[in-house]
Amino acid sequence: MRKEKIFLDQKAQEVLEGNDKGGYTIPTAGLYPYQWNWDSAFAAWGFSVFDTKRAWREIETLFAGQWPNGMLPHILFRQDDPDYFPGPTVWGTEGIGPISSSGISQPPVAATFIRAIWERDQQIGTDHLLSLLPKIKAWHKWFMNWRISPEGAVFVTHPWEAGRDNSADWDSAMAMIIPKGIGEYKRRDTSHVDPSMRPTKEDYDRYLWLVQRGNRLGWDEARMVEEQPFAVADPTLTFILLRANKDLAFMNKSLGLPTEEIDRWSRTLEMGCESLRHPESKYFNAINLKSGEHTGYLTSASFLCWYAGISDEKMLDILKRTLIDNLYPIPSLDSRSNKFDGLRYWRGPTWPVLNALIGLGLSDMGYEKEAEILRSKTRDLISQNGFAEYFHPKTGAPGGGEAFSWTAAVWLAWASPSVGEK
Ligand code: GLC
Repeated sequence: MRKEKIFLDQKAQEVLEGNDKGGYTIPTAGLYPYQWNWDSAFAAWGFSVFDTKRAWREIETLFAGQWPNGMLPHILFRQDDPDYFPGPTVWGTEGIGPISSSGISQPPVAATFIRAIWERDQQIGTDHLLSLLPKIKAWHKWFMNWRISPEGAVFVTHPWEAGRDNSADWDSAMAMIIPKGIGEYKRRDTSHVDPSMRPTKEDYDRYLWLVQRGNRLGWDEARMVEEQPFAVADPTLTFILLRANKDLAFMNKSLGLPTEEIDRWSRTLEMGCESLRHPESKYFNAINLKSGEHTGYLTSASFLCWYAGISDEKMLDILKRTLIDNLYPIPSLDSRSNKFDGLRYWRGPTWPVLNALIGLGLSDMGYEKEAEILRSKTRDLISQNGFAEYFHPKTGAPGGGEAFSWTAAVWLAWASPSVGEK
């Protein structure tokens, strides 16, 4: 037992080190050759288990890409890599931020992991933290300025902003887009991974159409907001930003800095979370703001309520049933849904990263039993099937890219049997 533990911890460390490009980490070679925002925050959390300084470096290289308006891009393109589409020229953000990047953001898990890294070693961490706090706040403020629905939920302007690329949550909003004039393009993802595991061409046409639109409008939020072709209030971002604001306020307070504005944001987001409750089914789901309709899909993001500090009896019942329904919970789309597709990305597979966030939330809120089930099932998945991007929730079959940084990080910081022993 002990031997296997050490072996897998070592392997996880090697995955992170293998994806380390010198201060920043790529998610996996080939499929995702740049620095991704929330992947990088997870990687930092993983590094912090064995190398605190490297963890801070990861965070600092990520924030080095912050735009003057506070936005922290979802991809930083440090070099042009023909393996990935759409690359820097398609996004057309040159001259806006300090590093070539995409024009949208991603779920702000960074503040929460920064807190964890700092709490692990305050002596090394406090100076890093002091210089990062205003940057984190500027990023969260950007969300509060540009991505808040009238009810207080965070909405996304592109499916990639939620980090759940082809979730069923976007289907109705995507169907409202007619992707005219996008021209010919060549996808790269399907040469790295079986197309049956990837978003469809209909999805890609629309992803690209939205990117081209942003490029045309110079990624100027004030112009883009005038006529929003895609706006979906999203549980991923709403719960994650609420949690991130609470952690940011905690860190500010600990260092004697003001928290009033951040506390106000949290109150807005708390209302926003409530607005995501489905009127009949009562679980949290997304809302297509163009039609005003709840999407009605129960996804892994629905279970982030505890992570945001929200206890909920209805969700607890659904959680218990989901833990039984699936050999390897939590599916990214309810396995009872007719759109469930066990290996197609965010339409069914279970993702260790989401499980870790949900598990952290459950532990924080005192649901140790459920948290432990989720943690031990995720541990089994990874130890039996490797550091894959995601897994089939019924069979455990690995899917997507291999040697994935954030799966390795989740192993080291949350799923490994040695967590808590150190
Ligand atoms: C996909 C995922 C997204 C992730 C990225 C890099 O686009 O949906 O969440 O950040 O890959 O791993």
